[in-house]
Amino acid sequence: MRLSLGRSVFSHAMEISPVSNTRAKKTILSGMQPTNDLTIGQYCGALKNWVELQNEYDSLFCVVDLHAITVRQEPAKLRKRSLDVAAMYMAAGIDPNVSTLFIQSHVPEHAQLAWILNCLAGFGEVSRMTQFKDKSSQHADNVNVGLFTYPVLMAADILLYNADLVPVGEDQRQHLELTRNLAERFNFHYSPTFTIPEPFIPKVGSKIMSLQEPEKKMSKSDANEKSTIFLIDTDAEIRNKIKRAVTDSGSDIVYDAEKRPGVANLMTIHHIATGRSIAEIESDFSGFGYGDFKEAVGESLVAFIRPVRERYEALRADEESLKSTLRLGAEHARERAHKTLRKVYKKTGFVEL
Ligand code: TRP
Repeated sequence: MRLSLGRSVFSHAMEISPVSNTRAKKTILSGMQPTNDLTIGQYCGALKNWVELQNEYDSLFCVVDLHAITVRQEPAKLRKRSLDVAAMYMAAGIDPNVSTLFIQSHVPEHAQLAWILNCLAGFGEVSRMTQFKDKSSQHADNVNVGLFTYPVLMAADILLYNADLVPVGEDQRQHLELTRNLAERFNFHYSPTFTIPEPFIPKVGSKIMSLQEPEKKMSKSDANEKSTIFLIDTDAEIRNKIKRAVTDSGSDIVYDAEKRPGVANLMTIHHIATGRSIAEIESDFSGFGYGDFKEAVGESLVAFIRPVRERYEALRADEESLKSTLRLGAEHARERAHKTLRKVYKKTGFVEL
């Protein structure tokens, strides 16, 4: 480390903890792409956790529209969905007075830092990202350089705010590892600047599977809409999708994810919607058949989603107020991002005027 040369008297302390964290709370940052309507899986796997964390941490949540264009997007839809997703964050309980809520493209520092990190990232190490390999085979007609460098932009999102923890799904672990490597590399080549973030991956357990192919994870981009419960689904749609969910041969309500993934998945959904444990559900429904059970699951899910959807509809209906919330969020985020970027520019050797 080249830290001690000509540094302030604090350099020793800083050597131990590269970025002296004087903030009382640790910082968390996360984001979702506005590429589709959000699902109950995203609500349970991410949003609900964010809401629980926001009071305990200094929290930033963004809608990552720059990431979204690594796959072709229709401009009008992207514009609409970015606002949809922001409103859904709030409907789920993200409080813009507590957390910083913003749209990524409103904070140009994300793209600016990404460039610098691109110049530190190895072609080989980025080539190893499994999500790139998956997505480039899914979108073989549009394997653009942005898709390749997607994880470097994600690193910029995280490092700009010196996030300590990044709540993400297991599929993002490798991107977090890359982020840590880039942060360490910058800190090493220049001087301690970035906090080294940790992934914050919720325990698995209530992963929701497709309603039509319960061996697969429920996905927002499933071609078959009947597979997925969206947070904007109407009561009737929810009831219908549950009614038509694939079940297995058998008739009693017993949890067996291996042999009877369809019923097991409905039990998971009922557990999420009601808070009843799997064992309680088994005893509640002993002696009942699939039909009765599905009806109960449909009702519990309707009751679970309806308040979120209703809050969403109210928030989304007032676009001006939504935008002014996002404007404030972006201003707040920018102030912080700008401080980091200024340091980075200086250390990189860019001329200050
Ligand atoms: N890549 C993430 C995903 O698909 C989304 C994302 C972009 C993100 N930037 C981020 C998540 C920063 C956490 C932190 O889930």
